[in-house]
Amino acid sequence: MKYSNEFKFDDLQGLLRFGHGQLSETCFLLLNIVDANAAKQWLSNARVTSAIETTPRPQTALHIAFSVAGLRAIGLQEALIEGFSDEFITGMTGDESRSRRLGDIGVNAPAYWEWGGDSQQVPHVLLLLYAESDGIAAWRKQVEDTLFTAAFQLISQLPTQDMGKREPFGFADGISQPNIDWANRQSTDTHQRAEYSNWLAPGEIVLGYPNEYKQYTVRPLIDPQTDALAAVLPIAEDQPALKDFARNGSYLVLRQLDQDVPGFWQFLNKATDGAPEQLAAAMVGRQLNDAPLMPTGVEKIPGVPVDDQLNQFNYVGDPRGNVCPIGAHIRRANPRTGDLPAGVTGLWTRLIRILGFGLKHPNDDLVASSRFHRLLRRGRTYGPPLSPADASKPDALIAERGLQFICLVANISRQFEFVQNAWLVNSKFAGLQNERDPLLAHRNPLNDGNSTDRFQRPDPSGPVRETCHLPQFISVRGGAYFFMPGLSALKYLASLPSTGRGHSA
Ligand code: HEM
Repeated sequence: MKYSNEFKFDDLQGLLRFGHGQLSETCFLLLNIVDANAAKQWLSNARVTSAIETTPRPQTALHIAFSVAGLRAIGLQEALIEGFSDEFITGMTGDESRSRRLGDIGVNAPAYWEWGGDSQQVPHVLLLLYAESDGIAAWRKQVEDTLFTAAFQLISQLPTQDMGKREPFGFADGISQPNIDWANRQSTDTHQRAEYSNWLAPGEIVLGYPNEYKQYTVRPLIDPQTDALAAVLPIAEDQPALKDFARNGSYLVLRQLDQDVPGFWQFLNKATDGAPEQLAAAMVGRQLNDAPLMPTGVEKIPGVPVDDQLNQFNYVGDPRGNVCPIGAHIRRANPRTGDLPAGVTGLWTRLIRILGFGLKHPNDDLVASSRFHRLLRRGRTYGPPLSPADASKPDALIAERGLQFICLVANISRQFEFVQNAWLVNSKFAGLQNERDPLLAHRNPLNDGNSTDRFQRPDPSGPVRETCHLPQFISVRGGAYFFMPGLSALKYLASLPSTGRGHSA
């Protein structure tokens, strides 16, 4: 397959390339389309931010994403909608088995969500606005200037509050991100991918490009012979006779996750007789000063800049979790494994390990290759900041705090849902049993009655240290799957024929 080395960024929404870290203020709006024609007119004038790099960096940014209901409401043909993935069409809360797999049970159940819980009433549009400090009100006014109120009904403005790149528990967030291989420097061939690498094929995050399997993810394609409007769309690279509605677009997963900050620090204080930092760091896999528990710089990770000390590590030298517990949040969320089991050298050992015969410990199992399950995270925090010290006081101020968790992926089920289900919420992971992600999972017992509310830290000099009766620290308040189209797909949507619904502006 021939790749172009020059990636064209002008058709991507900028969020795929930038986290907009310099734009500290945000306004996330959930909208319903009440007048499709007005919405299309608004869309054709909207200054959606592209992924082109500019100097100076932009002072504001605007991104837009649609749920499946939103694509229908704006008039996208059903034949095209069918080209999207099943999980996008069914939605985050569309079936009970998905909710169970995502851990959305008990107090997390969609029935208790503030938004998105009713699969029939998922908001149509997610509008993400970003601005420099003190700039968000003026930017919102500009965005809403033309036709906005005629086109959309505001369902909810999601809370957001800058916490200076820390999440509410006090840890730095967004340190580790995949490095998108825009220039196709790295082969996706399994034989060359024994080790963990941070390079990720663009097709893992952006639709219309080869992914880590060297395949193009299934997506809606259009025959330009039957649809003249499709002329604005890019050609489908894998089927050049067709136009690609989804190229340069991405799925956007949004989950509003409430964090019980006083509950977290007070439990840890109690469990450790007033010295909670070490246990908290073990649960996260990083210290409060951002450093990972694993020593850095030992392994040079392809795709991680050499000076990025906070990310130059993997877990090859720590198979039992003595340094970083296997159940730590960052080790579960990205076990940093290559394609072949650790310790493989020759052809023979390779075969033995791949077939699973070379396992040294009865609890060992093989964690899937990380490269097929990476997420590009773009979340923002909400609620009043509370330091770990203040949160530990018995009279700590209770307030709604949390994370508007956002990730961008090309395949919701293989990436977001797999990580959430198989790695984070699952009570079995890499040889661990009867425990789930210590930060974000629910603590429901198993069907056989066994509890799952523990967290284990191996100690090379003694028995495993076990923390029991972990309460649930995070609860789900809302969530939905969206599709964030490329800029030409937005033009296509804006030019769809009048639906006859609402009034034509
Ligand atoms: C309120 C909920 C959450 C909190 C407080 C939280 C906190 C953190 C923190 C402190 C880090 C370490 C900083 C970093 O490496 O960027 C991290 C990393 C990460 N988290 Fe979360 N997280 C939350 C939810 C989630 C969810 C829902 C997912 C995925 C379904 C997730 C996936 C990841 C991944 C992939 C990493 C990077 C791991 C690595 O590459 O080393 N997180 N998170």
